[in-house]
Amino acid sequence: MIWGLLFNPYTEANAVTTTFNAYEQRVKHSPDGIGKFYIKREIARVMGHTGAGWLERPTRELEEQPSKVVSGLDLKPTNVVADIGAGTGYFSFLMAPLVSQGKVLAVDIQPEMLDIIDFFKQEKNISNVEPILATLSNPNLPFESVDLALMVDAYHEFENPKEVMEGIVRGLKPGGRVVLVEYRGENPFIMIKPLHKMTQKQVKKEMQAVGLTWRETKNFLPQQHLMIFEKRLYPTENQTTTPWQPQPEKQTQRRGLPIGNLTSQFLAYQYLGWYYGRDFIAAIPNYPAKLII
Ligand SMILES: C[S@@+](CC[C@H](N)C(=O)[O-])C[C@H]1O[C@@H](n2cnc3c(N)ncnc32)[C@H](O)[C@@H]1O
Repeated sequence: MIWGLLFNPYTEANAVTTTFNAYEQRVKHSPDGIGKFYIKREIARVMGHTGAGWLERPTRELEEQPSKVVSGLDLKPTNVVADIGAGTGYFSFLMAPLVSQGKVLAVDIQPEMLDIIDFFKQEKNISNVEPILATLSNPNLPFESVDLALMVDAYHEFENPKEVMEGIVRGLKPGGRVVLVEYRGENPFIMIKPLHKMTQKQVKKEMQAVGLTWRETKNFLPQQHLMIFEKRLYPTENQTTTPWQPQPEKQTQRRGLPIGNLTSQFLAYQYLGWYYGRDFIAAIPNYPAKLII
């Protein structure tokens, strides 16, 4: 019963009622989603500004290690960075000192979030964070001005992901990077609502749909993956950006699920295998082949 709820939170009876270009609208859908599907993924509901306190929770560093995210971006002091779906600007203010000769564009659709960013700008005395009010379809970035666009726990709730990503790609310099940090959808033990997680496979499909090239996935965070994509570099007269090279992984990648010791992980896998079948086990990334029985 518990496993059923964990893995199948809503029924299969998802009748398609309307079809748009890139999207499907379904009547039956998850209560956590808006019933709109993009490349077979249901889009999650937007986290309202009343959740701002959650983004600023003191335990966040311990749980998500945001400082590791920022140091893993290899930012240069002159970079212009866009924090898309910035919320309270938690990541904008972490990045701002690292781009001291550049700036952070803190982009959000909720004016209340931008007011909070303005408040923190005064409070922290930081001047190189620039709030930008986006629309549901347009991040309103200046053309080819951004070195890196970061989205932390935000992309899965964009109502028009294709249009927003096209806007981001327009705003990126050639060779510029897009970085997505999302809870790992492959891991059923990460206790986050399914629509608030994404698999690497799904992220790759959606980024490929707007012409971005996958470069690297970093797995150094406790519960999220950090995926790096790149805008194609094409020759222009005023080309100023050098192509970004993936950095060698500094940490050893942990195999399997981030719970307990190896024995308890093995037992958990075997239980899942018994419940869902051998194919389920075989599909788990990095699961040692010799343990599939
Ligand atoms: C869960 S919060 C994450 C905030 C921040 N990235 C962090 O990790 O602290 C997601 C934010 O994305 C914003 N958002 C949702 N759709 C958006 C869109 N189409 N364009 C820009 N921001 C959007 C929401 O308003 C919300 O503030």
